[in-house]
Amino acid sequence: MRKIAIALLLAALAAPVLAAAPADMDARIGALLSQMTVEEKLGQLQQLDGEANGEARAEHFDLARKGLLGSTLNVRGAKRTNELQRAALQSRLAIPILFAFDVIHGYRTIFPVPLGEAASFDPAQAETDAALAARETRASGVRWTFAPMVDIARDPRWGRIVEGSGEDAYLGSAMARARVRGFQGADYSAGDRVAACAKHWAAYGAAEAGRDYSTAEVPERTLYETYFPPFRAAVEQGVATFMSAFDSLNGVPCTANTWLMRGVLKGDWGFPGLVVSDYTSVHELMAHGVAADGADAARLALNAGVDMEMVSRDYVTNGAALLAQGKISQAELDEAVRRVLRVKFLAGLFDKPYAEEAAEDAIVSMNGDSRQAAYDAAVKSFVLLKNENNALPIPPGVKNLLLVGALADDQAALMGSWTGDGKAEDCITVLQEFRAKSAERGIRLTYLYAAGPEASEKDDILAAVKAAKRADYVVAVLGEGPNMSGEAASRSDLSLPGRQLELLKALAATGKPVALALMSGRPVDLNWPAANIPAIMQAWFPGTMGGPALADALFGTVQPAGKLPLSWPRSVGQIPLYYNHLSTGRPADPGNKYSSKYLDAPNTPLYPFGHGLTYMPFELNDLRVSASSIAPSGTVSVSASLSNKGSVRADEVVQLYLQDTVASVARPVRELKGFERVTLEPGQSRRVEFKLGPSELGFYGADLKYRVEPGEFRVWVSTSSEGGLQGSFNVAH
Ligand code: NOJ
Repeated sequence: MRKIAIALLLAALAAPVLAAAPADMDARIGALLSQMTVEEKLGQLQQLDGEANGEARAEHFDLARKGLLGSTLNVRGAKRTNELQRAALQSRLAIPILFAFDVIHGYRTIFPVPLGEAASFDPAQAETDAALAARETRASGVRWTFAPMVDIARDPRWGRIVEGSGEDAYLGSAMARARVRGFQGADYSAGDRVAACAKHWAAYGAAEAGRDYSTAEVPERTLYETYFPPFRAAVEQGVATFMSAFDSLNGVPCTANTWLMRGVLKGDWGFPGLVVSDYTSVHELMAHGVAADGADAARLALNAGVDMEMVSRDYVTNGAALLAQGKISQAELDEAVRRVLRVKFLAGLFDKPYAEEAAEDAIVSMNGDSRQAAYDAAVKSFVLLKNENNALPIPPGVKNLLLVGALADDQAALMGSWTGDGKAEDCITVLQEFRAKSAERGIRLTYLYAAGPEASEKDDILAAVKAAKRADYVVAVLGEGPNMSGEAASRSDLSLPGRQLELLKALAATGKPVALALMSGRPVDLNWPAANIPAIMQAWFPGTMGGPALADALFGTVQPAGKLPLSWPRSVGQIPLYYNHLSTGRPADPGNKYSSKYLDAPNTPLYPFGHGLTYMPFELNDLRVSASSIAPSGTVSVSASLSNKGSVRADEVVQLYLQDTVASVARPVRELKGFERVTLEPGQSRRVEFKLGPSELGFYGADLKYRVEPGEFRVWVSTSSEGGLQGSFNVAH
C-alpha cells in the first residue's frame, strides 16, 4: 500500500504540465511531415545566429524562403522578426520560424542577475521578473528564451555561477519552477509569454576546477540528488525546451549523450519538448575527440536525441547522406522534426506568426510596473552579510557622506552579464540616487572614483583618504566588473580585483565608519573586510533599478532580507564548498588531528548558505513537530513562531533543514527542505509551517531508486544553514 502511495505521488509529481495544444496539432504535424522533403526536415532542425544588434542576415531570408530555416537566435525586434517571418511563410509549406534570444534576467528592463534573484528566496518575485521579461521579449517578436539556467554550481571559480540559483537543489528547483511559470505561464502561446529552455543539460556547473566548457565527472547518484532536480522541476512545470551542455559528463560529451537525452529526459521523465544543442556544440564533438568529422558529429548528436543544432551545420550538411547510409533512422529524424513543430504549434506560431509592430514600443518601454518590479527584485536580492553595531543603515546624524568606487557610477555594470536588450542609459546608478537622497536629507555628499575592478589611471586612493578624513561616514561600492562573471569568465583567484582592497584598507585606517556594498557575480575574498569593515551588503548585479534599490537599502528606507544561495568560501583552497556535504567518518574536530580538516584553515565558510542579516531584530522560537512517528508515505508538519521585534515592517526568511540520521547510504549533514520569506509588521508574530512528506524525506539509494527509509530524522528551523531550533521525528518501519 505504502509503496503504491509513494509511487502514485511521484508519478503525479512527474506528470508534465502541458501548454494548451491545438486540438488538431498532431494531425497537422503529421500532414506537414508527410509532405516534407529530407532537406526541409533538416532545415527545421537548424538554428542560425543573427547579428549581435538583432538584425537577420541576408542568408536567413534566402533559407527561409526555401523552408530551410527552423529557428534563429539573436534576431529580434517586431519589424525584423516579421520581415524574416514573411519570407518563411512564402516557403512551400509555410512553416514559421521560431525566434530565440538569451533573455536571462530581463529583456530591456534588467532584473538582478539570477544568483541575486535566488538570494531573495522569493520564487514569486522570480516568477514576476520572468513574466515581465517574457512580455517585453514577446513584444519584440521573440518567442523562445534560453532560460532558465538551472545548473547547480558548487564552485565560484566558474563564472556562470552568476546565471543560476547557486549550490542547492531544493532552492534551485523552486527557482526553476518559478522562472518557467513566469516565462511560459499556463500556455506559452499567450501574447505575453515565451517558451522557456532549461539549460545546460547536464552538470555543466560541475566543470572541473571551475573552468568553463570543461569536463564534469559526477557519480550518477549525485546527478539524481543534486544536479538533476532543478531540470526535473522544469520538466514538471512544462518547460518547452532543453539545451544540451558543452561539457562531457563522465566521459561522454553531453551533446552526444544518449543516456541523458533519450534515457533520462525523454525516456524516464517523458519530456515532450525539443532539445537544442548549445552554440556549435554538435560540431565540437570533433574537438572532444568522439567524432571523426562533421557527419560523425551529426550522427552522434541526432542519435543521442539532440533535436536542433545551434549555429554549426552538421545536420543540414550531412543528414541526407547519414539517412541514406542508415546511420540515422527516418523515425529518429521525423521524431526530431515533430518535436520542433510541436513547440512551434504550442508557441502559437502557426496561428499568430507575426509580432504586433505597433505595440512593441509601448511594451518595451521601461514602463511603470516593470521598473517597479525591477526595483522590488533588487531590494529583495540584497544580502546583509555583516552589520556590527548596526553600522548600517547610514545613521540619520550623518552630515558629510563620502561615496567611493567606480562601480557606484557605472550604469552598464549594474546589468551584470547577459544584458538582453538592456540599455545602460536606462539604469540608475548608486551615485545618481545618493545625490538625490543626500539633497533631500541635507547631507553633503562627496563622490570619488577612487578605484574600480580594473586598475586605471583614474584610481586615486590618496584623494579618497583625504576626503574620508573630512567625512563622517564612508560608503564604498566595490566588486567585480560585469564581465568578470558569466560565460567564459572563470577566475582562479577570487580576490577583489584592481586596487579595491588597498582602497578599503586605506579608508578603514582613517578610523571613519565604512560600509561596503559589493557588486559581484560570485563570492569574492572577503576575509579582510569581514574582519575589519563593520558592515557589508552583497548587492550582486542588481539591474536597471539597482542604484535606487541599493541606496534605499543603505539608507534604511527599505529592509534587506536576502540570504546567500551558496556557501561563501574563505579561500579558493576550500572549493568545492557546500553546506549539504555528506557526513564523514571523521567529522572535523579541532582536538583531533586525524579528522577531516585543514591544517591552515577552518572547514567552515566565511558566511554560510542561507545566511543574511536584517536591520530589524527577529526572533524564532517554539518549534513544534506534529508527530513523533510517521509512516514512510506519511507527512509531518514542522513549525516555529517568528516575531518581528523591531519598529518597522520587515522580511525574514525562515528555513527548514533536514537530516536523515541513519540510511543505507551516507546522507548530507543537513539539507534545505523548505523556506518561506515572511513579511511581518512591527511586533507581529506568525507561525511558519513546513510539511515534510515522501518528496522531502526520500533520497536515491545505491540502486538509484527513490525511497524513504525508516529511522530518525532531525530537523532544524532556522534563519541560516547554521544553528536553528532542533527537533526530530521517526519514520516507522
Ligand atoms: C552559449 C551559452 O552556453 C548558452 O547558455 C547560450 O544560450 C547560447 N550560447 C546562445 O547564446
